[in-house]
Amino acid sequence: MSIRLLPPNLVNQIAAGEVVERPASVVKELVENALDAGAQRIDVTLRDGGRALISVTDDGHGMDREELALAVERHATSKLPGDDLVHINQFGFRGEALPAIGAVGRLAITTRQHGAEHGWRLTVEGGEKSPIEPAPTNPGTRVELRDLFYAVPARLKFLKSARSELNAVTEIVERLAMAHPEVAFSLSDDERNILRFHAETTDLIAEAEGARLKRLSAVMGRDFAENAAPVEAIRDGHRITGFAGLPTLNRATASMQYLFVNGRPVKDRLLVGAIRGAYQDFLARDRHPLAVLFVDCPPEDVDVNVHPAKAEVRFRDAALVRGLIVGGIRHALTGAGHRASTTVAAATLQGFSAQSMPSYQAMPMRGPSVAHLAAQAVAAFAPLDPELARPSVRAEAAPETTALRDYPLGVARAQLHGTYIVAQTADGIVIVDQHAAHERLVYERMKDALAATGIARQALLIPEVVDLDQPAAERLLSRAAELEELGLVIESFGPATVVVREVPALLGATDVHGLLRDLADELAEFDTALSLKERLEHVCGTMACHGSVRAGRQLNQAEMDALLRQMEATPHSGQCNHGRPTYVELKLADIERLFGRR
Ligand SMILES: Nc1ncnc2c1ncn2[C@@H]1O[C@H](COP(=O)(O)OP(=O)(O)OP(=O)(O)O)[C@@H](O)[C@H]1O
Ligand SMILES: [Mg+2]
Repeated sequence: MSIRLLPPNLVNQIAAGEVVERPASVVKELVENALDAGAQRIDVTLRDGGRALISVTDDGHGMDREELALAVERHATSKLPGDDLVHINQFGFRGEALPAIGAVGRLAITTRQHGAEHGWRLTVEGGEKSPIEPAPTNPGTRVELRDLFYAVPARLKFLKSARSELNAVTEIVERLAMAHPEVAFSLSDDERNILRFHAETTDLIAEAEGARLKRLSAVMGRDFAENAAPVEAIRDGHRITGFAGLPTLNRATASMQYLFVNGRPVKDRLLVGAIRGAYQDFLARDRHPLAVLFVDCPPEDVDVNVHPAKAEVRFRDAALVRGLIVGGIRHALTGAGHRASTTVAAATLQGFSAQSMPSYQAMPMRGPSVAHLAAQAVAAFAPLDPELARPSVRAEAAPETTALRDYPLGVARAQLHGTYIVAQTADGIVIVDQHAAHERLVYERMKDALAATGIARQALLIPEVVDLDQPAAERLLSRAAELEELGLVIESFGPATVVVREVPALLGATDVHGLLRDLADELAEFDTALSLKERLEHVCGTMACHGSVRAGRQLNQAEMDALLRQMEATPHSGQCNHGRPTYVELKLADIERLFGRR
């Protein structure tokens, strides 16, 4: 057998295997090219989910005749002026997207530079280039790809239904649109309008943040924009910005987490792990926060050349980036104080209306339902100002008149079912789950104490002997030193048994057996990648749950008010350690609506 060089079209088809997986990857390459060309508006049109046609039209700088001829040559790019793969600021640099696309479908490019008399058109079918002809067209570039994979039919059968290909395209366009609020985008499929984003003004620096939030709100929905805290963290030339959703706004999957590195959408495990770490003591393991983060760093500190479709990146200092993200998100959530998301109240109202007013829903009414109106009204309310929670609130009940005005969580009026505190605020009512709230307070105090002086321990009068299984006992004992730092002193007592000598003083009288079993389970599930501190915090959470006021305990007025004041003064108190809300607020206006008074 002799060695031979592969013909260029075969080389392009092989490259296409990496770059062009499905319609969404074609759209990604073409839209990135349009962005690189400085487009202000980009229109994407599909037929049959992209199988029959993918067309991307931009108003960018266009190409002249020579550039057009080169654009479809392999390894031809205008984006690496020097021969240096270190300073990559644009989406493109490999110079292989267009030739790869032209090798697997019928490609047509029509382009005109601004100020040129007319445009030029070139087609590539199965790798065969047509002569370049003059063509009438608007300034900018239109790239059309018909009959995707007609030249490599084997790959057609890997395509999914038109609907799921369209979904993948939609996601790509959304991601790119999030990073470029100043550019208008549209997407349609078989004449059906799928996405339409107007360009947001970003002329002033002050406008840029607002424009970004408007675009994020257009893509992710108003709930996110209204229930997210701004993130900003800078260190050593690395900057993290974006928005972190409040923990009470969570999902069953991580699909609402969007990450961008130097404006490039990425799906990077390091970054996903960092978000997980940042939220891990606010959310149950099977719930996922919503977040949009933009990492900006000098191009030489990140390698975007590790993945053919540029979906993954590699950071020179991964630990720095991870630390910035974890710190930035936590800081943002602390700034959000005791806020729980407005969606909680909206969901509550919806529940109320659904149950108590079936007759309304049965009526053949046109227009939005009462529940919908109420939910909208609630969503429109400005979140509580975290500064209100700051003043030196302490654990005593204040005089009635000032209290209503000054305290966001109001004055306690009653305890119901031994579990819920009902409080009156200046313009509504607040219902608090006392166990969930107290758990969070104990937890935050443990974390503070841990950071400051270590946690005070309390020796048990009679040490408790706890029977476990052997692996559980071993897991606990292997962490004995860390647990001791948290105030829990244990020793071995036979192969499957441990003896507990001291417990954290904060916990008071607690069910030691339950605590140890839960801790053993926790340790079994811990991700080894978590840092020691994060592990400790998680353990705090488990301990706090055991030490907090059980549902069912009667509280007097002073105790209830004390709990409310502490919540106002404590960061993260709007949710328990599992991301469930600790309180729900209903505004008078909404309650009036429920009763048809408005
Ligand atoms: N929409 C467009 N407007 C103006 N010029 C374009 C456009 N699309 C492509 N080009 C030109 O064609 C060249 C080749 O594009 P292609 O996508 O194949 O490679 P690239 O973007 O340079 O790198 P990569 O393969 O990483 O995407 C680009 O470098 C650019 O000069
Ligand atoms: Mg490109």
